Amino acid sequence: MRGNDAGPRRLHRGRMRLSLVLTSALLIGAAVPIAARAQDSTPAPATWRYQQVTPAVVARHGMVAADHPISSQVGAEILRRGGNAIDAIVAVAFAHAVVEPAAGNLGGGGFLVYRRRDGRSFALDFRETAPAAATREMYLDSAGNVTDDAWLGPRSIGVPGSVAGLWEMHRRFGRMPWRDVVAPAIALARDGHVIDEPRADMLRGSQSLFMRYESARRAWVPGGRPFAAGDTLRQSDLAATLQLIADSGRAGFYRGRTADLIVAEMQRTGGLITLADLAGYQPLWRTPVRGRYRGWRIITMPPVSSGGVTLVQALNILSGYRLGAFGSAPERHLLIEAERRAFLDRNSLLGDPAFVAMPLARLTSASYAARQRRTIRLDRATPTEGLPLHEGPHTTHYSVVDGRGNAASLTTTLNNGFGSKIFVAGAGFFLNDEMDDFTAKPGAINTMGIQQMGEANAIAPGKRMLSSMTPTIVLDPDGRLELVLGAEGGAMIISAVLQVIVNVVDHRMSLAEAVYAPRIHHNALPDSVAMEPAALSPEVRAQLESMGHHFFRNPYYFATVSAVRVTRHGLEGVTDPRIPSRAAGY
Ligand code: GLY
Repeated sequence: MRGNDAGPRRLHRGRMRLSLVLTSALLIGAAVPIAARAQDSTPAPATWRYQQVTPAVVARHGMVAADHPISSQVGAEILRRGGNAIDAIVAVAFAHAVVEPAAGNLGGGGFLVYRRRDGRSFALDFRETAPAAATREMYLDSAGNVTDDAWLGPRSIGVPGSVAGLWEMHRRFGRMPWRDVVAPAIALARDGHVIDEPRADMLRGSQSLFMRYESARRAWVPGGRPFAAGDTLRQSDLAATLQLIADSGRAGFYRGRTADLIVAEMQRTGGLITLADLAGYQPLWRTPVRGRYRGWRIITMPPVSSGGVTLVQALNILSGYRLGAFGSAPERHLLIEAERRAFLDRNSLLGDPAFVAMPLARLTSASYAARQRRTIRLDRATPTEGLPLHEGPHTTHYSVVDGRGNAASLTTTLNNGFGSKIFVAGAGFFLNDEMDDFTAKPGAINTMGIQQMGEANAIAPGKRMLSSMTPTIVLDPDGRLELVLGAEGGAMIISAVLQVIVNVVDHRMSLAEAVYAPRIHHNALPDSVAMEPAALSPEVRAQLESMGHHFFRNPYYFATVSAVRVTRHGLEGVTDPRIPSRAAGY
């Protein structure tokens, strides 16, 4: 159907007329082979697909790195108009909900790490919660197997936190009027934007799942044909919802028309979320997790994201070694062994702090890392099965630094691309499938490839599900702001953030080189190393296999990082070639 009220519209092919002022960000340098400027690096294998590094976007006053170029431009324009990092990141998040519906969202949740220019840091948890009607075994069939409705369809949806989170961070730290930061998203939804090839691919890839649900099918496969690259997408229902949010703040989403439309969609499809679930949702301010790595200071997200704790644990383990050359077998081996141990704790101990007690100080301590190092052999992989087990994507990231030195790092998600695929008719947005991040059954592998054990992350009404999102800020050894980064990509978020930090600190790579470099990932269980195609040279892979490592090739991507670095040349903004985008600054 192509009528006026079924959400997005394919209108015409051609260029979008954006009322945004395009930023004058400056490109420096020519494309250089990866690691060419690193001081302690061997180049990536010759067949590595991101050999040619696009240099960072550089600007003097403010920088936004988001994984859609239009979102970056929206944020840079807010900075140019005098907004601070929080104004920009809120505007980016709303714009991203329009231009990247697979991940940007009103119907999901996320995490913010914010460092004010006075040096104080804050963390905001706006993760989804399990609806009041959720039960511990709600995804088990009569044979005790986990069913698909943990990640697909109406029962996979957690109570959304995004709008409450964006409202709360702006209420506390924003400078510009709320309406002004929501306005660019309204204009984009109302006036339309041109779909590019990577996003058309995402829509095509989900077409068969959209067909299962009436609202998604009508909105996203109109006339039986998915949107194509070059189509202009106008989303009048989403524009109307954003206008309600601009006018009434969080109440424009959690009460009144939008809430009624969400609950109507739940009733039509068999979802659990009620008006009371929506009205009761609250984001939570938390104390950031802090760590040190070779003198550099890490400020990152505490539970209910596992990201910060797992990142700091892995860095602590690595800090006891000299890693050796980038991409060499000894260096890859140590990364794998550190990830294995940090993820094993993540998968069994961490959960919602309101429901489980966690030994966070111990897990992030130097003495615990020293004990873990004693279990690592330099010549052999340690089978995960032999290590003590404690009983007990589609995401998106934006990094912003403003002209005053405030830094904001925000990761938000619907979980899988387009979330549950349940699209709220009349309101114009997808709802998440975040319930799959709970442990539906100890030992089962979820859609993020994680095998979680124990009770810490079991489902309970009102509980937040464990996340891997890792919005992070890194200070140099003198305490000056150096890096703002984070990623999308499920569990691989943590290893991506880890490896970018290691690439910058140990291998002295530029930020662009650090982001483009090949990555590996180990979740602890299943006990195999995920690698991107051609990420390891055949010789290094053979060496690692002879040490007992098992590999599987990940044909897709390995998380996508969006990052800003403060340098003496200016602010560098880098986005990840794994999902094409571009940073913007002024
Ligand atoms: N939904 C992915 C995560 O939060 O880790």
